[in-house]
Amino acid sequence: MSRLIIVSNRVAPISEGGPAAGGLAVGVYDALKETGGMWFGWSGEVLSSTPPHIDVVERGPVTFATIGLVRRDYDQYYRGFSNATLWPAFHYRADLIQYDRHDFEGYCRVNAWLAQQLVPLLREDDVIWVHDYHLIPFAQALRAAGVKNRLGFFLHIPFPAPQVLLSVPPHRALVEALCSFDLLGFQTVPDLRAFCEYVVHEAGGQVEAGADKAPTLVHAFGRTLRAQAYPIGVYPDEIAQLAKAGTRGKPARTMKATLHERKLIMSVDRLDYSKGLVERFRAFERLLDQVPAYRNHVSFVQIAPPTRADMHAYQDIRLRLESESGRINGRFAELDWTPIRYIHRQYERQVLAALFRQSHVGYVTPLRDGMNLVAKEYVSAQDPDDPGVLVLSRFAGAAQELTGALIVNPIDIDGMADALAQGLAMPLAERRARYRDMIAQLRENNVSVWRDNFLRDLKDGEGTAKRRAPR
Ligand code: ADP
Ligand code: G6P
Repeated sequence: MSRLIIVSNRVAPISEGGPAAGGLAVGVYDALKETGGMWFGWSGEVLSSTPPHIDVVERGPVTFATIGLVRRDYDQYYRGFSNATLWPAFHYRADLIQYDRHDFEGYCRVNAWLAQQLVPLLREDDVIWVHDYHLIPFAQALRAAGVKNRLGFFLHIPFPAPQVLLSVPPHRALVEALCSFDLLGFQTVPDLRAFCEYVVHEAGGQVEAGADKAPTLVHAFGRTLRAQAYPIGVYPDEIAQLAKAGTRGKPARTMKATLHERKLIMSVDRLDYSKGLVERFRAFERLLDQVPAYRNHVSFVQIAPPTRADMHAYQDIRLRLESESGRINGRFAELDWTPIRYIHRQYERQVLAALFRQSHVGYVTPLRDGMNLVAKEYVSAQDPDDPGVLVLSRFAGAAQELTGALIVNPIDIDGMADALAQGLAMPLAERRARYRDMIAQLRENNVSVWRDNFLRDLKDGEGTAKRRAPR
C-alpha cells in the first residue's frame, strides 16, 4: 500500500495531541489518524533569522514533519497573499481584498521552497494530498523539482464565482497552477461549478461531466485533470460519545448551574469576519426586542477564539464585536442575567461537544463558509431523545447536506430572529424528525468516506493526463 503524504500550511498541534481550532486541522487529523502517513507543513513558528530546518516527530501512526517560516516569508505568503488577498476574495469580500505584487511573488517563492524541503522525504509510490488556498502552486513546484507522484488538492474554503475571482490580479496564474494537480476536490457542487465556469469562460478550456458520480474531466492549459465535490465530514458517533461523557465534566455542569433553567443558544467560531458574528449578535438582539418573554429566559453563548490577530481586518472585527456585545448586554442585562456570554478561549473538543448537547439551538450563520464543521459537530453531539435545533446559514457548504436545519440568510436580521424564535419553541416531534434526517446524512458521509472517496479517485485517475481534449 502506498504511503499517504498530507501537505498543508496549518498542521494539528503535535504536543497537546489535539487539533487547533480550524476545520482543516480538525478534519485532516481525523482522516489521518486511521490510515497513518506523513503530515508536512508549517510549524507555526516565525523565526527571526536562523535558516529553518525540518522537525520530524512520530506520534502513533502519523509522522509530523514541520518547518518554521522566516519573518519575510510569513508576511508575504501567510499574512499577505494567502490571508489578505485569497481569503477575502474566496469568501466573497471584495471590499477587503488587498493586493501587493511582491506578496504574490513571496507566495510563489515559499511554495517552491516548501516543495524543495519535502522532496528528500518522498518515496516513489507516495500519494501526495495538498490542502487549501495557501498551497495552490505546490503541484507546479513539485513537478518542476521532478516529482512524478500522484498529486491531489482539496480546497477547504469556497471557490468563488468567476466575476469575484477576476478581482484577484493573478487569477489566471492561480487557475493554471491548480490545473497541475491530477485531482481537485471542492467542498460542494456549487464550488465545483464555479471552477468549471472559470475554466470554460475565462481560460478557454473544456469540461466533460463524469458519468454516475465520477469526477468531471477538465481540459485546460494543455493538461487534462479531474475535479469533483467531496464534502468533508466528521465522525458523528465519536462526537456523540464525547458529548455524553462531557456533560458529566465540570465545565458543562458549571454552565448548566449558571443557566438556572434558561434556554441556551450556542455558537462556536474562529473570530473571523466571514462568520457573520455582528449580524448574528444583532439578530439575537432583535429576538429580545420582539419577544420580551425571552428576556431573562434565554442566554446566548458565543465562543470565538481570536485568529490571525496581527491583521487589521481581524482587529477590526474584534473591536466591532466587543462594542456590539457590550451594547446589547448594556441594553438588556439584569442583575442575575447577561444575555450574551462572549468568550475568546479555546476549549477541548469534549467540552464543546457537551455544551452543544446542552443547548436548545445551535446558531451557525457564516456569511460564507466552505463547509463549517461546527454545524456538523453540533448535530452529532445532540441527545437523540431530546435534540436541539440547528439554525444554519444557506451560505455554509454544510447547508447543501443538512436540510433538516432551519436555513437562514445571514444578512436578514429579522429572518434570523424568526428562526431563533422558531427553534426555541419547536415541538419535540419536529426536533426529532429533523435530527434523524441530519444524523443519517452525517453517518453516511463521515470523514473516512470523504478521505476514501478522494483517495480512490486520485489513485483511479492514473492515465487521465494522457487523454486528449475532445475536438
Ligand atoms: P473554520 O475552518 O473556518 O475555522 P469550521 O467550522 O469548519 O470553521 O471548523 C472549526 C473547527 O475548529 C471545528 O472543529 C471547531 O470545533 C473548532 N473550534 C472552533 N472554535 C474552537 C474553540 N474555541 N475551541 C476549540 N475548538 C474550536
Ligand atoms: C480555515 C482554513 C484553514 C486554516 C484555518 C485556521 O479552516 O480553511 O486552512 O488552517 O481556517 O486558520 P489559520 O490561519 O490559523 O491556519
